Amino acid sequence: MSDIPCAVFLVFCVVSCQSFPKGEVKHCNPRGMQNLEPEKLTGIWYGYLWRRHPMVLDDRVLTEYAPYVTAAENGTLSILIEALPKDGQACIVIDELSSLQPTGQSGVYAFGPPESNNHFKIIDTDYINYSVVLVCYGEKRQGWCQKDAIQIWSRRVGLDPIYVYSGMKTIAQRLCKTFEGFRFSVHKLACNLRGQVTKK
Ligand SMILES: *[C@@H]1O[C@H](CO)[C@@H](O)[C@H](O)[C@H]1NC(C)=O
Ligand SMILES: *[C@@H]1O[C@H](CO)[C@@H](O)[C@H](O)[C@H]1NC(C)=O
Repeated sequence: MSDIPCAVFLVFCVVSCQSFPKGEVKHCNPRGMQNLEPEKLTGIWYGYLWRRHPMVLDDRVLTEYAPYVTAAENGTLSILIEALPKDGQACIVIDELSSLQPTGQSGVYAFGPPESNNHFKIIDTDYINYSVVLVCYGEKRQGWCQKDAIQIWSRRVGLDPIYVYSGMKTIAQRLCKTFEGFRFSVHKLACNLRGQVTKK
């Protein structure tokens, strides 16, 4: 990632993030995107901003985080994530989200053992530039996850600040999270997933 979008975003944030809600507000609405067209999500994405709760130890942070999405005709969605562990010698493939079952709610998929109540949600996307996604482990009431991961993905290695800003606004309004704890993903294209790299 170049430093320029980052700097622009931080300036945005100094000006605008003040208005994001503080703390964990209870009136969240983390449903999936309505009228989602899953087949348009197909292809490679790059992690851009992410936050995990509880937080990940620094030595477990992954770089080169690149999800590859496939939509099957029967409605299942498969996401294989290529990433590089810290000090890792080789890129790994994470298959935790490789078999996402539709739930009947647009943009909401189930994964893991049925009793786990794990959900993957596409909160917002324009398919061609950005996606805002939520991985919710052990969802109790809607939006109450025992563990969660919130991510902004980009179709390119960089992301135009307008999408970063609108993504953070969506996260604030729909997921009730502040900018706190978010980190930028690092991409040096060491994994070069399927050779389908699109630089910005
Ligand atoms: C749906 O299709 C995918 C890909 O063809 C396949 O792997 C999966 O087993 C199918 N799932 C169901 C429930 O039929
Ligand atoms: C959004 O993606 C489209 C398609 O790749 C691209 O032409 C456009 O420049 C992108 N918009 C921005 C602001 O980056």
